[in-house]
Amino acid sequence: MNTARFSESVTGTIVDGVLIVTIENPPVSALSFHVRAGLMAALGRAASDEVSAVVLTAIGRTFIGGADIKEFGKPAIEPTLPDVIKAIESFAKPVVAAVGGAALGGGCEIALACHCRIASKAASFGLPEVKLGIVPGAGGTQRLPRLIGTVAAIDLIGTGRVVTSDEALTLGLIDAIADDLAEGALDAARHLVDQPLRRTGALSVPHSQAEADAAAAKKVLSRSRGQIAPAEAVRLVRAASMARLEDGLADERATFLRLRDSHEAAALRHVFFAERQASKVDRLEGVTPRKVESVGIVGTGLMGAGIAVSALNAGYRVIGIEQTDEAAARGHDRIAGLLDKSVQSGRLTDHARSEALSRFEAASDAGRLAQADLVIEAVFDDLTVKTELFRKLDRVVRPDAILATNTSYLNPNEIASATARPERIVGLHFFSPANIMRLTEVVDCAATAPDVLASAIAFVRKLGKLPVVCGVTEGFIGNRIYSAYRREAEFMVEDGAAPDEVDAALEAWGFPMGIFAVNDMAGLEIAWARRKRQSATRDPEARYVEIADRLCEAGRFGRKTGRGWYDYSDGERRSDPQVTALIEAVRAAKGIVPRRFSADEIVARLLAAMANEGKALLAEGIAARASDIDLVMINGYGFPAHKGGPMFHAGDI
Ligand code: 3HC
Repeated sequence: MNTARFSESVTGTIVDGVLIVTIENPPVSALSFHVRAGLMAALGRAASDEVSAVVLTAIGRTFIGGADIKEFGKPAIEPTLPDVIKAIESFAKPVVAAVGGAALGGGCEIALACHCRIASKAASFGLPEVKLGIVPGAGGTQRLPRLIGTVAAIDLIGTGRVVTSDEALTLGLIDAIADDLAEGALDAARHLVDQPLRRTGALSVPHSQAEADAAAAKKVLSRSRGQIAPAEAVRLVRAASMARLEDGLADERATFLRLRDSHEAAALRHVFFAERQASKVDRLEGVTPRKVESVGIVGTGLMGAGIAVSALNAGYRVIGIEQTDEAAARGHDRIAGLLDKSVQSGRLTDHARSEALSRFEAASDAGRLAQADLVIEAVFDDLTVKTELFRKLDRVVRPDAILATNTSYLNPNEIASATARPERIVGLHFFSPANIMRLTEVVDCAATAPDVLASAIAFVRKLGKLPVVCGVTEGFIGNRIYSAYRREAEFMVEDGAAPDEVDAALEAWGFPMGIFAVNDMAGLEIAWARRKRQSATRDPEARYVEIADRLCEAGRFGRKTGRGWYDYSDGERRSDPQVTALIEAVRAAKGIVPRRFSADEIVARLLAAMANEGKALLAEGIAARASDIDLVMINGYGFPAHKGGPMFHAGDI
């Protein structure tokens, strides 16, 4: 049984007349030139009489992670992926895909072109191209609907959703799931020898109701917030039932190439690589994270409960600590309630909910934290309260445990200095609701030890969240930029723009919600309290807009009070003449003659404010990379991902 090498990344072995073609191109078996060329050479070998069928497989956790994104933007080198796929589909002998991991993008398209797809239980399938601002470019939009119908194909391709092998089997995307993949695929290949082959491209798209297609398309488009790729993907899938395969493929390829060079795709590629860069920290090279199995959470209010649910869902044992037994019982109920909601929304099974809750205990005895590897404080954001608590924790937690403070604005160095072990303190700034929001700022405090920082990053990743490391500054990365953004928006309002004009400009540009609507949703009173605290130290020469203070003095704290920057008394967000009058009074008192602002000017000024504050954060060493800042604004503050983030945008224009 000799192994033949077809290229640097593709080898083959003949077993029982079946050529097993193996791709090995770490880390994700992307379809780089050597893989494409190797596959073509393998098919050449398979044409010989010695071979009766082919099994295509890959080494590693992925089957094939898709086209090599790093090759985008470089001149195409033949064979192209469509060439390879055409050669597979039209091959005279059976070609079976043996999928043991993620088959994504071009990887899924290769599987679709094979004559049979056998998967392991751990495999997954998806065409996530829209998440990169492109459409599938090697037949995905034309072959997937032929296999699973238009409605399901619109859902998968339009959203980029990845499905398990179980769902893939139900959809008809694969032929079977095998316990022993190699054996299962070999069997399938032997069975297909001399049989008529089912070529996906030759199938007709199963008939579907026009209304069902339209509903699926509407669902995708309603979520795509002005992005081009999902709309194009839907168009191509719908065309698959009307056009000949070759015409559909030509349209798809042209659309793929056009979108690949678009601004939207460049922005989303930037985000893709930024996410993978984010947890790489220079000073942590070679540092091994500590083992964390048991997590203590002090404070099981809204934030603490959200963090607890995330930790439970990630498999940790969690102890929630409150001051009294009654409060602990309420914390338990809150956490059980959040888990129930996940069951109702289909994100969790009943079984998983019970299993998660069985790993949770609530107590009023802080001594129970002695068993925790990591303790996260999530109590009221007040320096005295937090330093007092950390003094107490210092006495009860193990010397090697990690202590994390979840603060939005306080200085974690001051909190750390209340303990005898500042090197074991790190900041974890979760965003609310913490069981849903992906972003977590990991605050590298003055004395944080490398293993503590590495463990905090690993913990956040295990929660399925996106850790972004930052240094200590008021508001860390996100809230500092947000403050600059809000300040600029308020300057424009004082100078003549209406809050709803500012919000409309932002929403038309791609933000899900304008800044004043966001403020109303979050509540205006916390920022007001902060401004009052800071008033003694504020630079009297610096411009200060009092409108938000006046709103709070009038009891307008945002949505929860039915009034804030807007009026919500009938459930809808509406501009309020009282707010307009209040703004006019503030302008008049300062002698400001209002002027008009165009939507372009509003957006340009707000983006510039964000980027300038971002530059300051980089200069101060608070953020390590511009791309980290982009991730924070995209994942914590609604900055549209397809615009790449404020720093990408600023560098780009
Ligand atoms: N091309 C090039 N590099 C890729 C890549 C790709 N398609 N997918 C991942 N990588 C790189 C990452 O940048 C990372 O590099 P680094 O170590 O230097 O930071 C490394 O591979 C490992 O990636 P992850 O950290 O993401 O590894 P995971 O094991 O967590 O996840 C994965 C693996 C699920 C495959 C994930 O990487 C992923 O989702 N990749 C992108 C999948 C995708 O979008 N495919 C479609 C590509 S476009 C396409 O195929 C067009 C076609 O239709 C013509």
